[in-house]
This record gives sequence, C-alpha cells and structure tokens, in this order.
Amino acid sequence: MENKAPLKFEAPEHILVPLFVSGNSVNLEQALENLIETAKTPEGRLNLASVKFLPIVLEFTRCQISSSNHHLLILSLKLLRNLCAAEILNQNCFIEEDGVDVVARAFDLISYKTNSGDKIIEIVRFGLELLGNVCGGGEEHQAAVWFRLFPVVFEDIAGIREKKTSDVLSMVIYNCCNGSKDIMRQLSGVQGLHIVAEIVRTASRVVPGEDWLFLLLDKLCLEESCFLPLFLSLTTPGDLEKNDHLKGTDEICTLETEFILSSLCESFDEYGNKLNLSKEFALSVLRILKRVVKVVDFFWRPQSELPTGILAIDVLGYSINLLRNICKQDSLNIRIEESGTIINSLLASGLLDLLIDLLRELDPPSIIKKSIPQEDTSMQLKAGPYIGFRRDVVAVIAYCSHGMKHVQDEIRQKDAILLLLQQCVTDEDDELLRKYGIWAVRNLLVGNKENQEILAAMVIQGSADVPALADLGFQLKLDPYTGRAKLVNMLRD
Ligand SMILES: *[C@@H]1O[C@H](CO)[C@@H](O)[C@H](O)[C@H]1NC(C)=O
Repeated sequence: MENKAPLKFEAPEHILVPLFVSGNSVNLEQALENLIETAKTPEGRLNLASVKFLPIVLEFTRCQISSSNHHLLILSLKLLRNLCAAEILNQNCFIEEDGVDVVARAFDLISYKTNSGDKIIEIVRFGLELLGNVCGGGEEHQAAVWFRLFPVVFEDIAGIREKKTSDVLSMVIYNCCNGSKDIMRQLSGVQGLHIVAEIVRTASRVVPGEDWLFLLLDKLCLEESCFLPLFLSLTTPGDLEKNDHLKGTDEICTLETEFILSSLCESFDEYGNKLNLSKEFALSVLRILKRVVKVVDFFWRPQSELPTGILAIDVLGYSINLLRNICKQDSLNIRIEESGTIINSLLASGLLDLLIDLLRELDPPSIIKKSIPQEDTSMQLKAGPYIGFRRDVVAVIAYCSHGMKHVQDEIRQKDAILLLLQQCVTDEDDELLRKYGIWAVRNLLVGNKENQEILAAMVIQGSADVPALADLGFQLKLDPYTGRAKLVNMLRD
C-alpha cells in the first residue's frame, strides 16, 4: 500500500539541515555525494567525527528504510561506509548508536521470494562493506556485528547467490572471526558451515575474484579441521558430472568440491610454510584421493595440465597436489621433533602403497617405452589422466622418503627402486619429471646402504640404465678390499 505512494518527506528538519550545511548544497542528493567524497579522506572522516556527524547520518538512514527510498538509502550507507573506514571514533560511535541494528533492518528489505533487483543488491553490498569497516574497530565491534546477524541474516544474504554480495559477505565473516575463538567456534558449527557452503556454491560458478573466501577457507579447512564436514556438505547427489571419460562418477566430484581443493592448493602456493596444518586435514585429503582414483579413467589420454575441466580428474589432481604440499611442509617442519608426524600418519593409512600402485600401473615414460620392444602396441596403456600426474606422484614419494629411513626401506621391500629410476628421464610432456625423479631416487639413497647396494648391482648388471647417476650425486667405485662395486656419495664423501 505504502510502497506505491512515494513520500516526499525524506527526513525531519533537524536531520536535513546539518546534511545540507555540511554537504554544502541544498540539493539532498548533491549534499550526500559531497559528504561521501569528503569522507574518503582521513582528515574528512576525522572532521566529521569531531562534530559527531555519524548519528545524524544513521538517523537519516533509518528514515530511508521506513520510507523504502532505495536510492537515498544506498547513498547514506555509502556515506556511513566511508565514515567508518579506519576511523575509530566513527566506528565506536556506530556501535554506541546501534548502527548494526539499522543495517540489519536495511537487510530486511531483501525480498527473497521475488527477483531482488539491482538496488537491493547494492544495499546489501554497501551495508556489508560498512560492517566490514566497523569490524576493524576491535573485538567488541566484531562481536556486535556477529551476534546481531548470525546466523539468520547471514543465511539470507548467502541465499541471494550473487557474486557481488557473496564476496563481501565472506569479507565480513572473515573480519568477524579474525582473532576471535568464540566466533570461530560458531562459524565451525553446522549453521556456520552451511553459510560458507552457500558462498562456495556461488563462488564456484563464477569467475574467481576476491580473496576473502580463500582466507576464510584456509582458516576453516587447514587450521580448524572443518575441511571434511564442509567438503561433504558440498557433495550433493544429483549435481553430478556426466562424462564419457569416467568409468563411473562419484558425488565427491562436484564443481564445489573441485573449487575448495583448488583454492586450498593456491593457498599453499601463496602462504606455504606459514600454514599450521592439522593431521585431520591431511588424512581427509588422502581419503578423497583413495575414493577418486576409483572413478578416474586412467586410459584417457591426457590433454592438458590441471585444471582439465573434467571434474573427477581435477579432484584427483588437486588432492595429489595437496598431499605433495602437505608432505613437503611436514618433512621440512622447523620443529625437528614434529617433522614427519603427519607423513607417518599418512603412511599408516596406506599412502605409499596407493602411490606406488598408481605409478606401477602407468606406462613407463615415453622415452623408456620406445626402448622396449613393442609387441602389443594395440594394447591400450595408461598414460595418466592429466599432464604432470606422474611428476606429482613421484614428488609425493620424494617428500615422504626425505630423511625417513623406514620409508626408504619400505620402497625397497616393495621392489620399487627400479620403478622410480625409470622416472628419472626427460619426458616430452612433462619437463619437471626428470628433476623430481632424480630427487626421489636421491632421497632413497642418502644414508641407506641397502638401497645403494641394490642400485650399484643394477648398474653393474646393466639391468638398469642409470644415466643420471652423477645427477643423483653418486659415483660408482670399486671397493679395493672387497673388489665389489659400490656407490659413493660425491657430495658427502
Ligand atoms: C587479522 O587480524 C590481525 C590482528 O588483528 C591483523 O593484523 C590482520 O591484518 C587481520 N587479517 C586480515 C586479513 O585482515
């Protein structure tokens, strides 16, 4: 009823007059635009703070909410946002005057059942940006925002499924959680993860942009052990990929799960050893890998590196990459007494068996294959589902055996030394294979007499062509006492 009759009344006079005066115009819109400009600078914000201007703008905002004047509401939220950017006086004033409640009421305007329209999206966006700025004020501010909006209002906003609002929502949630154990605990609960899952659903369907969601996922997945519950909540049956290159398909391969895995991979590239990894996270990734190898078609000729655009292959590739990064970080752990603890739990859960089996089932690299007489070229051979797969598997093995005698021994007992030697070649598709292969074999030899003897015997018998011996840092020498050949570590001896 009221909606149809636009009210001329914009605000009472005691609100309008200061806006006209400070905004330096008798045109309301112009005055607001001028104030928005003024509040862009630190001095401008401070000046307006010293005359206690923020309560006037808040009051004006309230009036626009009740009269549903969306255009003026957007301008006033924008002004509040600028006022609260890194200006503690305004941030404090905003909390004292219950500004969070005003913004929450503005969010009530979202009409979820109907098409929300661009204006509403703008209102939500500026409102969230404002709250994000307010959170900068400290713990009290973070709590005021969180406890007013979590979970209902956040759920409603996440439900809009628009990139424009979803990105800023991640920002606000991150800013609320940053440094607060209490809030983090709530976010890690069922309702909190449901909101994050909605944000991931939106983000996984658009071009990635803002980094706030990545920061949020890092915190939740890598540090707070929320990875598995979040991951599983995004494996929705019915949202399956149909693809000829898969033997079957599995609900763990969705756009959303691929998104989470790839974004965590990126975090490793960016933050590397600053991440504080949990054992649960590592074991969960292994669980996913074990499951996805069952649905990937290894006879599929690899067309490209990651991402291939085939969900199951990408989920496979990103889980192996995550394991490589996890093992790398664990084997290089600065706290020596803790180094290898995550790797050991992964090994206890069958990581090494899985990797060696994967490698064994592949074709040898093309250069080695050419040297083997080909009777049955008609037979289909496994090439690995994406370019770089072989290298990634070898890299995980290399990190696991780095300085770990029991792993070196286990690889020998599994008769896999020759298998790894075969990876020390230049592969036309995968330039890094040789580097990782050499490094893996080197890690098998250092400090392990039995492994050195086996390799020396292979060289003598010519059963293995080891052109890379010098690259491995070893040399074959005759032992003058026993008359037997042995490997000498050139870098150490
Ligand atoms: C999280 O909080 C810390 C400490 O208050 C701050 O230094 C850091 O910049 C914040 N992180 C982000 C991404 O804003």
